[in-house]
Amino acid sequence: MAIKVVDLTEADIPGAIEVIQQAFADDPYFKWVFDSSQFNKQRNYDSLAARCKWGINNAIFQVAKESDNGPILGVSCWIAPHPETQPESWYSWFQSWSLSFSQFLNNVRYLGRGGLRTNRYWIWKERQAEAQAAIWDDPQGYYFCNIVAVSPAAQGKGIGKLLFEAVTHKADKEGTKCYLESSKSVPNVAIYERLGFGMRKEMECRDGEDACMVCWMGCGCSMLFADCF
Ligand SMILES: CC(C)(COP(=O)(O)OP(=O)(O)OC[C@H]1O[C@@H](n2cnc3c(N)ncnc32)[C@H](O)[C@@H]1OP(=O)(O)O)[C@@H](O)C(=O)NCCC(=O)NCCS
Repeated sequence: MAIKVVDLTEADIPGAIEVIQQAFADDPYFKWVFDSSQFNKQRNYDSLAARCKWGINNAIFQVAKESDNGPILGVSCWIAPHPETQPESWYSWFQSWSLSFSQFLNNVRYLGRGGLRTNRYWIWKERQAEAQAAIWDDPQGYYFCNIVAVSPAAQGKGIGKLLFEAVTHKADKEGTKCYLESSKSVPNVAIYERLGFGMRKEMECRDGEDACMVCWMGCGCSMLFADCF
């Protein structure tokens, strides 16, 4: 049966989170930013659920599956381009505020951030801001891939490519650039190269003894920004 890529619905959220948690379980950034001894899977689930609900109305949040009621095989979340000259709408501002408030409530409910090392999170955000300042020079903005994950059992079968192409084909038609972040250099850099991207730049993130490399890649209309930890 052919796999289709469709917009995320509320009913898809549990399956989508399962795929994200499985696909990122061995992710270098995930391991760097979370203290494994404090990690709370349910807290992480609730945080992702808030993000998914936000994404239904505010992002290009899609899932790959074989049938309407079939299991979720892959997930992607892209932020649409935001032209520099266009101020943020009140709707968008309120939606972002609501998401932050939901995460605040999660902090209260779980008495913390479920093992998230906030200092490392902010180191990463600084590197991300530096990278965007260095490579985002197109005033019409970029499609930014916030999440892409394929169920481990379904990886290497073309599902990631389908999820990418659902957005990159649209971006190419519009003449808009895309970029993404990945914390895994192997095998992701090779996979992204197969999808038309190329390495641009590398930089280091450091928290005491723990250092990480940030890799930037780009090609043609699409641009890849990968954090390689
Ligand atoms: C990265 C990821 C989304 C790719 O999805 P996927 O379904 O495994 O990838 P695909 O099967 O669609 O492969 C895409 C291309 O990469 C190639 N490829 C797949 N696995 C590869 C590997 N291990 N090494 C080199 N190339 C590979 C494929 O052959 C294909 O190229 P082709 O169409 O020219 O043949 C998926 O592996 C994943 O979820 N990884 C864990 C989570 C993660 O790291 N997410 C990215 C964070 S940004």
